[in-house]
Amino acid sequence: MKLGVNIDHVAVLREARAVNDPDVLQALFIAVSSGADQITIHLREDRRHINEADVKNIINLSKIPANLECSINSEIVDIVCALKPSRATLVPEKRAELTTEGGLNLNSPNLANVIKKLQDNDIEVSLFVDPNLDDIRASKEFGVQFVELHTGAYSNTFLMLFSNLRHTKYSVNGLDLSKNELKQILNKEINRIKEAAKLGKNLGLKVAAGHGLNYQNVKAIASIDEIFELNIGQSIIARSIFVGLKTAIKEMKELLI
Ligand code: PXP
Repeated sequence: MKLGVNIDHVAVLREARAVNDPDVLQALFIAVSSGADQITIHLREDRRHINEADVKNIINLSKIPANLECSINSEIVDIVCALKPSRATLVPEKRAELTTEGGLNLNSPNLANVIKKLQDNDIEVSLFVDPNLDDIRASKEFGVQFVELHTGAYSNTFLMLFSNLRHTKYSVNGLDLSKNELKQILNKEINRIKEAAKLGKNLGLKVAAGHGLNYQNVKAIASIDEIFELNIGQSIIARSIFVGLKTAIKEMKELLI
């Protein structure tokens, strides 16, 4: 199982003080030397963390592939075409959200044009989709090579079941349920991810997954044979505060074996 390390949150901390500390390039070099298979970054429309200069430097200096997440906004897509990452992962984006809240809407009228433009620029395209069979079939129709399954619903359910989240202000709306109900939802979500991964692989897509994965919940997803790569950010960068980035990445890699 390959690991894409998302280093957006290193830039979040940098932006908190508007200084070049912590340096995302240092995070890149540590990620490479710690066994990351890919570096993942999100160029948001509001540039709240990663900016064009970061993307350019990372692409130029990285010894591992750069996976650039972006919306289908035409200005952003033009920038991505000029920057030429190995892969562009198309994600939905809302200005007010804390993080990418769900999969891409595959009915967006300009999605096909965006995919073609990226592919014409020799950029591999991945679609960040909810783990449902219709979206996997639709992704195949778009002629992309990759899909990334959104594991947010699984991760939220896991947190509500096995952590103290429900006793905090971050309790997830709609998931304040009994343990039995949460267990049922968790099993349903794992099955949805498994079935989506299986169909994707059968259709010839490369299937990645990510969002909300952490040291406690990653095993169930990492054990799905049809998934070849996980992209993980928040939990790795959060753990790195206490144990250092190298150890945090190595510990995650060990869980993926
Ligand atoms: N994959 C995609 C497409 C994402 O948008 C994100 C969040 O930026 C991640 C993976 C990583 O999610 P997390 O930070 O919750 O691990």
